[in-house]
Amino acid sequence: MKNPHISINQVSVSVGSRSILCDLDAQLNDRRIGIVGRNGSGKSTLARCLCGLIKPTSGRVQIDDIDIYADRKGAIQKIGILFQNPDHQIIYPTVGEEIDFGLRQIGHTAPQAREKTRQMLARFGTLDWIDRQTASLSQGQKQLLCLMSILAMEPDVIVLDEPFSGLDIPTRRILGETFQSLPQTLIHITHDPEAIETYDQVLWLDAGQIHHIGLPSQVLPRFMDAMMTASGLT
Ligand SMILES: Nc1ncnc2c1ncn2[C@@H]1O[C@H](COP(=O)(O)OP(=O)(O)OP(=O)(O)O)[C@@H](O)[C@H]1O
Ligand SMILES: [Mg+2]
Repeated sequence: MKNPHISINQVSVSVGSRSILCDLDAQLNDRRIGIVGRNGSGKSTLARCLCGLIKPTSGRVQIDDIDIYADRKGAIQKIGILFQNPDHQIIYPTVGEEIDFGLRQIGHTAPQAREKTRQMLARFGTLDWIDRQTASLSQGQKQLLCLMSILAMEPDVIVLDEPFSGLDIPTRRILGETFQSLPQTLIHITHDPEAIETYDQVLWLDAGQIHHIGLPSQVLPRFMDAMMTASGLT
């Protein structure tokens, strides 16, 4: 699978007079990209811009030749997002309907969608979930459902916004291994530097700006030092 080219061109987001992202410029070509930054630094806002869910106040995001905000149909084939909270993502009463929905959006007929849904559930050993109520799933099961819904749509890029929050150790491990093995480009937002230390590139956001971008070995030690300083531990 060829890595798509993600181009963030002078992206700013403001709400009223408040600047949330300020003039971000970055070209991302790698297969594993981590994003770190303090609470409120703008990571989730950037994730939403990358997926075209919010329109930048100025600038734009392109993946290959697709303008992600302007071309919604093109965008959903290019990029999918796993939100920080799966309850913000799941909208259908049953697991099968939830996965079907994304597949219908990219143009599959109802029977085609159902067949692909069954294949995706079978891949994760969860075919018996097909008629299960989404509300009855645990947090980790909901995360897995969201991941299956995105994978079924086969986007080139998947954004993970703190996918491990609230998950127990075995579930983290299983999901972590699943993420590792994905051929797609991953953009992984995390507060855990260890989760991204083997990645190709790390982007450190601070107060809505790119503080540093580079190899994990360059960015993460400086980030950790800054976090220790901020917590008064050095
Ligand atoms: N719709 C909005 N209206 C007003 N302010 C917003 C809106 N969305 C985000 N913000 C503000 O923008 C800043 C960045 O928020 P964002 O959720 O992107 O941060 P984050 O880096 O993902 O934080 P966390 O690590 O806590 O998830 C925060 O100060 C937040 O309060
Ligand atoms: Mg966030």
